[in-house]
Amino acid sequence: GWTMASFVETELAALKEKVGDDEVVCALSGGVDSTVVAVMLHKAIGKKLHCIFVDNGLLRLGEGEEVAAYLREHFDLNLHYINASKLFLDRLAGVTDPEQKRKIIGTSFIEVFEVEAAKLPKVKYLAQGTLYPDVIESVSFKGPSAVIKSHHNVGGLPDVMKLELIEPLRELFKDEVRKVAVELGMPDFIIWRHPFPGPGLAIRIIGEVTEERLEILRRTDKIVQSELLASGWYRKVWQGFAVLLPLKTVGVMGDGRTYENVAAIRVVDSLDAMTADWSRLPSEILASMSGRIINEVKGVNRVVFDISSKPPSTIEWE
Ligand code: XMP
Repeated sequence: GWTMASFVETELAALKEKVGDDEVVCALSGGVDSTVVAVMLHKAIGKKLHCIFVDNGLLRLGEGEEVAAYLREHFDLNLHYINASKLFLDRLAGVTDPEQKRKIIGTSFIEVFEVEAAKLPKVKYLAQGTLYPDVIESVSFKGPSAVIKSHHNVGGLPDVMKLELIEPLRELFKDEVRKVAVELGMPDFIIWRHPFPGPGLAIRIIGEVTEERLEILRRTDKIVQSELLASGWYRKVWQGFAVLLPLKTVGVMGDGRTYENVAAIRVVDSLDAMTADWSRLPSEILASMSGRIINEVKGVNRVVFDISSKPPSTIEWE
């Protein structure tokens, strides 16, 4: 029968055969899909793989660094870490429309990626972590965010790249990718990492994205993540995160009145993100998230929990 072990074995041999003496570039996002693609290719072709990690300044606290550190520690691969935060944040200044944000982030990503890929003249292939649901439901994607992915979905790579696609996961669902990751001996913190959208925290800050708001959201989100992990709920849910609503409400702290932002907690159960339901988190977990956020994060004085299902709501707020 079909097993993960045989899938991996067959796929590694096929990749090796296909690539031959050529080189491959992949975009590493920090998520499980692109990391599995990178590890598979590294196992198949070693140093002929180049991974480009574009830090767009919209990542969560510690994200990226953690995955990069793991890859550097365990694999001798060509990892190109590009800090492009300033470019992204400058271009996002003053932008409030969600689709506009996605567009800016998507095109900027391609631009940065192309500049880096152009420095690797022997590269013939582009590897990406496209999954089966992306293949069949590409139209459901909200925009150019998984970038090359959605770009590909809407009709091919930018001409200048002239790279052939390699998509080793295109027949798999998310749970199968996780099984492949287990098979590859990858650590839990990567295998169980929740999906994270390409446009990152930009679509979890309603309205304009600023450094200050990013900082507030990172600290809020970190608490949501750590409470999910500490309670064992992280693995039970599909996705859990915080959203910053730059909407001021009144609070009271000690003797004083506060007038600060609202943070929303969004935690959902899902199988493939096409439909989702809000997770019935125990109230003690919600209480400790809320208590910690309001006490520890300056700039938030009220926390709400999102009890909407998809459809008709979406998982992300933008
Ligand atoms: P929605 O909000 O459409 O999200 O219910 C479904 C899943 O897709 C993720 N998502 C995105 N991923 N680029 C991405 O790479 C995007 O623009 C994007 N929008 C949503 C979302 O996190 C959820 O897992």
